[in-house]
Amino acid sequence: MLKIAIIVGSTRPGRRAEAVANWVLEQAQKRGDAAFELVDIADFDLPLYDEPMPASMHRYQHEHTKRWAAAVDGYDGFIFITPEYNHGIPAALKNAIDFVYREWNNKAAGFVSYGSTGGVRAVEHLRGVMAELHVADVRAHVSLSLFTDFENFAAFKPADLHLAQLTALLDQVIAWSGAMKTLRQELATAA
Ligand SMILES: Cc1cc2nc3c(=O)[nH]c(=O)nc-3n(C[C@H](O)[C@H](O)[C@H](O)COP(=O)(O)O)c2cc1C
Repeated sequence: MLKIAIIVGSTRPGRRAEAVANWVLEQAQKRGDAAFELVDIADFDLPLYDEPMPASMHRYQHEHTKRWAAAVDGYDGFIFITPEYNHGIPAALKNAIDFVYREWNNKAAGFVSYGSTGGVRAVEHLRGVMAELHVADVRAHVSLSLFTDFENFAAFKPADLHLAQLTALLDQVIAWSGAMKTLRQELATAA
């Protein structure tokens, strides 16, 4: 069965990311066509990027990098849960993405974002990053507003319309994760 990671993109104490990620996980687990797990970058205690060689050379030296690489390597696709910080993704998320390379390649991803304008600029930022990592990012996108999807800007109460958006996102991530898995197998056979 395909394995999809729901990556919690904020490490801030009191972050809204956890509630959003748990909602995505809860909805995803109602379906039986893939296995979903939360992956919290805060659990990996990654320092600011400290590998001597670029990640694309795949010569990881540090235990924290190897542990993070093994985690990313275990998944066929990703759903990034990201807030918008200064019109981009949080530095902690970008740092975690930059730490490894091959483990992202030829996989699929979808995005669930939030912010005062729905986190759309963070997702546009992320789409460019994904292209560099050979990740196929799907069109469907769940964009949550701090004004209408969080009661008093705090308690997460997503509007009903987001359920259909999330279903489309999950459909697309699963379909493309399956296609990319076939591609990875073909590339491994050809090598
Ligand atoms: C450093 C920082 C920068 C932010 N910049 C933006 C921004 O550019 N656009 C926006 O819509 N919200 C911005 N916000 C608001 C966040 O989207 C909002 O606080 C969100 O809940 C943060 O996610 P988190 O709680 O999971 O960490 C910013 C918040 C922080 C902490």
